[in-house]
Amino acid sequence: MKRTVLVIGIGVGNPDHLTLQAIDALRRADVIFIPNKGRGKDELARVRRDLCERFVRASCRMVEFDVPRREAAGDYCATVDAWHEQLSGLHARLLRTELGENECGAFLVWGDPSLYDSTLRILDRIQAAGLKFDFEVVPGISSVQALAAAHKLPLNAIGHSILITTGRRLATGVPDGVDAVVVMLDDGNALSTVKGDFEVFWGAYIGTPQEILISGKISDVMETIARARYDARKANGWIMDTYLLRRPVRE
Ligand SMILES: C[S@@+](CC[C@H](N)C(=O)[O-])C[C@H]1O[C@@H](n2cnc3c(N)ncnc32)[C@H](O)[C@@H]1O
Repeated sequence: MKRTVLVIGIGVGNPDHLTLQAIDALRRADVIFIPNKGRGKDELARVRRDLCERFVRASCRMVEFDVPRREAAGDYCATVDAWHEQLSGLHARLLRTELGENECGAFLVWGDPSLYDSTLRILDRIQAAGLKFDFEVVPGISSVQALAAAHKLPLNAIGHSILITTGRRLATGVPDGVDAVVVMLDDGNALSTVKGDFEVFWGAYIGTPQEILISGKISDVMETIARARYDARKANGWIMDTYLLRRPVRE
């Protein structure tokens, strides 16, 4: 028998984001691995625990583990690679020691596992290093979909494309020819670097009771967003925001 690992997308904070497929997967799990990502992220661990309390079998074991921080200084790609190596070792140890040969374990991934999340890459590394297990991926509602729904928006203009990128990359400029950009992982500084005639559709804590939505011409709402972001981060101790930048397009 082989171990089975389920990678389950759980949406971005609203328990109602959980799909029927995700609920079935939670019920199959013998072990759920819950990451502790450090101070300020307790709320995210709490959402995961609450979902488990509602949906897993009584016999299911919860295994919490501390996630090491990525080295902030140095070349970005090199530090990410070193961090993934460290995470692979940690995940491999968890699978070897906490999951019996014929058991099913689950990692609950915020949003969807395909978008700015490394769980799938880490499992690939562990398999390449020789640990044998089957794995399945259950898609989840990502912050991008949740943002579009919250603002009641189609992301793309008719026949146009969308770029999904990070705050780090946005800070180097919106590429020519791109008229819709979804930005994730902004540490708070990238939006103020945007030049041009964009509309912005911003959302923080989307899907949760603290949700904040602001939209308008970037020059009109930039300050309001910066202030809302600062105040909310101070009040909650953490923030996650995503936004769409769109050049006005007549449809
Ligand atoms: C590490 S990425 C994870 C993305 C996730 N896999 C997804 O599908 O949305 C974290 C980023 O997702 C976005 N995000 C996640 N949850 C969010 C939420 N509830 N509201 C707004 N943005 C969110 C933010 O841009 C945050 O910096």
